[in-house]
Amino acid sequence: MAVVYDKYYQVENLFGEPYPELIEFLSNWIKKGTLLDLGCGQGRDAIPISRMGYKVTGVDNSRVGIEQMNRIASKEKLALKGIVGDIFAFEDFRNFDIVLLDSMFHFNKKDKKRETDFIKELIDKIKNEALIIFCIQDSGNKVKILKDIVNDTGKLEKMTENEFEYVYKDAETKHKSRTKYKMLVFSK
Ligand SMILES: C[S@@+](CC[C@H](N)C(=O)[O-])C[C@H]1O[C@@H](n2cnc3c(N)ncnc32)[C@H](O)[C@@H]1O
Repeated sequence: MAVVYDKYYQVENLFGEPYPELIEFLSNWIKKGTLLDLGCGQGRDAIPISRMGYKVTGVDNSRVGIEQMNRIASKEKLALKGIVGDIFAFEDFRNFDIVLLDSMFHFNKKDKKRETDFIKELIDKIKNEALIIFCIQDSGNKVKILKDIVNDTGKLEKMTENEFEYVYKDAETKHKSRTKYKMLVFSK
């Protein structure tokens, strides 16, 4: 079934470069183990992370995004596997040292319960000492909601919190928009 991002991803590399803060954190992390990128899109993060030596699995419900990512992975012989699927149906969290969720939660009225339940389940199922990295738009009370969910579980310890600006450039109109972002890294 086609999803809305199949259309957006007609533009290759739609979201541009990964955040330098994310790349820096993962380059400095000594154990380049297994990483699960939930909602990996076209591989904006998953591709450079696998080039660093991590063994990456990306899940996204956009077949177009996954096919673009898998093409690059196969051309460069990367340890990167893209799966077309619904992240809310994914369960196999125990196999990963790091789980990344970049721009995946909005906590809108209609999605808040489902997203909250999913984050709690994820925290419950990841193995001890695994990391979760959230990159989230710092607008409204999204960051507070996320922190409250995490705190409620009492299972994670915050390692880092970075604030940065994400500059999105529209390929067609050349319009630039600037958005405040936070990267929050927790360990179990
Ligand atoms: C804002 S984009 C972020 C993409 C990528 N994480 C990045 O930062 O470049 C959101 C992505 O989530 C995917 N997505 C949304 N809901 C999903 C779901 N339930 N299961 C799998 N992927 C989903 C979309 O297809 C899209 O690729």
